[in-house]
Amino acid sequence: MVTRALDVILLGPPGAGKGTQAKRIAAAFELLHISTGDLLRDEVAKGTNLGQEAKGRMNRGELVPDELVGKMLAKRLHSQQAALGCAYDGYPRTTAQAVLLDGLLSELNRRVDVVLFLNVPDGELLARLTGRRSCPSCGAVFHLTTQPPKAEGVCDACGAALVQRDDDREDVVRERLRVYREHTAPLLEFYRGRRILREVAGGAVPDVVFQRMRDAMGSVKA
Ligand code: AP5
Repeated sequence: MVTRALDVILLGPPGAGKGTQAKRIAAAFELLHISTGDLLRDEVAKGTNLGQEAKGRMNRGELVPDELVGKMLAKRLHSQQAALGCAYDGYPRTTAQAVLLDGLLSELNRRVDVVLFLNVPDGELLARLTGRRSCPSCGAVFHLTTQPPKAEGVCDACGAALVQRDDDREDVVRERLRVYREHTAPLLEFYRGRRILREVAGGAVPDVVFQRMRDAMGSVKA
């Protein structure tokens, strides 16, 4: 039996829990987790040309140009690990990016199967992001109050020192939320029109949100 690939977008504002839930969805359905934010942070850490171009924009809460992010995405989509499908976290963020993703998937005889919109109240987003601590080594994510590491400031998974992302300062978070409303929120209508958008209330603990996402996916995965 040939299994059809599954392509799932996690859409939502900064701090909605896209990364937290995309890792779980990817593990549950054997998908490649593609986080454009993580890929860009990796380029910044390595000091590549792309990283140098992206760094200032990311630290100001602005979007990185569609063309640069699109090239990064295409490379991942054409990799062997993407053959069973992908969980997209942080992509697309503009209508142009959504159109590019459609084109790349159609070259592979695939399409976006479902878009899960994580809806979380603005007040909670700010608290989640300013309290987030991330592992620069393995990418694990914690929160000072809701998901604290076992030892303060130390990653449970690999023992590295946790850091606060440069763009998780309150002023930058507010700009990221503004950019989300202007450039990314219109994608809700784009996908609603195709009848593949499912809204999930994201203001509960991660286990509950994950179950809601699985329920929302319903019969998408045969
Ligand atoms: P990116 O890294 O994608 O940031 P984002 O979309 O703003 O999303 P976040 O990573 O901040 O939040 P999240 O929704 O993943 O939440 P998380 O699960 O971590 O992008 C960063 C920058 O890169 C952009 O600003 C832009 O400059 C650039 N960029 C990236 N992609 C781009 C693109 N496609 N085009 C152009 N530019 C691009 O959770 C957040 C916190 O909340 C954590 O502490 C977590 O522990 C906690 N938490 C999670 N779930 C829950 C829960 N259910 N209850 C309580 N706490 C929770």
